[in-house]
Amino acid sequence: MKNFYITTAIDYANGSPHLGHAYEKVLTDVIARYKRLCGENVRFLTGLDEHGQKVQQSARKAGIEPIAFCDAQAEKFRELCRLLNISNDDYIRTTQERHKKVVRQLLQKLFDKGEIYKAQYKGFYSARQEQFLLEKDKNEDGTWPEIFGEVVEITESNYFFKIGKYQEWLVKYISSHEDFIFPRFRAKQVLEFLKEPLNDLCISRPKERLEWGIPLPFDENYVTYVWFDALVNYISAIGYGEPDFEKNWPANFHVIGKDILVPPHAVYWPIMLKALGIEIPQSLLVHGWWLSSGEKMSKSLGNIVNPLDLISQFGTDPFRYFLMREMNVGQDSDFSADQFLTRYTSDLGNDLGNLVSRTLNMSHRYCEGVVKAQQIDEEPEQTLRNLWGQTADAAMQMYEGMQFHTALETAFNFIRAINRYAEQRAPWKLAKSEDPQDKLRLETSLACMAEGLRLAAVLLAPIMPQVSEKILNLLGQKSAEKFEGNLAWGQSLLGAKLAPQEILFPRLQK
Ligand code: ME8
Ligand code: MG
Repeated sequence: MKNFYITTAIDYANGSPHLGHAYEKVLTDVIARYKRLCGENVRFLTGLDEHGQKVQQSARKAGIEPIAFCDAQAEKFRELCRLLNISNDDYIRTTQERHKKVVRQLLQKLFDKGEIYKAQYKGFYSARQEQFLLEKDKNEDGTWPEIFGEVVEITESNYFFKIGKYQEWLVKYISSHEDFIFPRFRAKQVLEFLKEPLNDLCISRPKERLEWGIPLPFDENYVTYVWFDALVNYISAIGYGEPDFEKNWPANFHVIGKDILVPPHAVYWPIMLKALGIEIPQSLLVHGWWLSSGEKMSKSLGNIVNPLDLISQFGTDPFRYFLMREMNVGQDSDFSADQFLTRYTSDLGNDLGNLVSRTLNMSHRYCEGVVKAQQIDEEPEQTLRNLWGQTADAAMQMYEGMQFHTALETAFNFIRAINRYAEQRAPWKLAKSEDPQDKLRLETSLACMAEGLRLAAVLLAPIMPQVSEKILNLLGQKSAEKFEGNLAWGQSLLGAKLAPQEILFPRLQK
């Protein structure tokens, strides 16, 4: 059986981890965990993109070797993964030999096939920014903006990859593969971009300008252009050219942000693979941006939200819950600390946390802390059970369609319904009754609350794995490993010993 292979973008080593990075990892992790719970074998890859100008500059500024700089950055990004409880199977760094080897191999193959040629490039160059400029970079009066410093016209030889000849193929491929780009509306942007003729891609940088890269195998005076290097991580990490490669490839999903769809993932990557005779990944899952007061978070705007602060304040799972509850995958979302606190206090504290503590509490007070049989089946029980049936079907479909925010909304509607059921049955009143039927109602109501809670905990496992496990443990159960057999309303808790009361989401000061 082929593995379900899912990847994130590999983060640039020159920056620090921010909310966007955290979101992408959590989103990918939720899908990976969901698929494992569905019974699939999952391969989950994330990693770090370490070559290029900016890394070289940052290292120089810090007065250390680029690799020492990257080692420190890798530690930071991996620490973020640990704090987010990301279940990746592997972590690729583009400075690893296993990666460089494959990049060189692929470049040589394309060179031997005549897909790469050398040509002279003439253009305006800014030494201060170390980049070529285009006419459109000029001021309206025809002068160059101050930031570029002195601009000179230079002629430089470089290597080019003939991507232009694959343009027609790519347009047909995207038009005929509905699943290739998700959400679908993003495919239109790609097709729009492909209306203009594609220029062949410059895949080299001369060593005098950039040292920190992978040397071209056929000309050591140049290093590889960063995108050609970075994209290859998806196949170098799973052993391209080795016998097990096809156990993982083609990838089921590359999870990426909208800024790196066009041209890298939707144009360069499929063309590179096509030219090499390698299968195209099944799907690009393109998420939107986290904004801060309506703007993209960026170092220069100083509006970066640090995920580490939120995790240390609220805990891993509340943070994961917030990210998945607020963002409609594919759209942008504005980060608000107030909204975070509201979600924490009302959804997690008042709805879920309260349900856990009242279920445990009353079970100990009225039923010796043991789950009794569900012996009464009246309107309140039927309503709750039916709602569970609808909830499970709807939420699983939403998971399948990447609609995590609505899946959570549905799950929490059910959690609130259990709380309403508790109000309606009012075990504290039933406990005072002399009627033997009321004793059965009392035991049934607490058993139904526990069963509802068990089901909700299983359903929430991909999003809040630790909270899910914690709740199941409090109910005397092991964590959920598979959905199958665990999502049907039943009496599997009969006789279970419940743990004493516990506060899952303590109140926080503003
Ligand atoms: O682009 N909101 O690295 P990166 C949501 N190394 N997602 C965001 C975001 C935001 N505010 N800001 C960035 C790179 N991202 C390359 C990728 S893949 C072969 C090479 C997302 O560190 C961004 O869209 O700039 C990308 O998917 C990921 O974070 C890493 O961004
Ligand atoms: Mg970026």
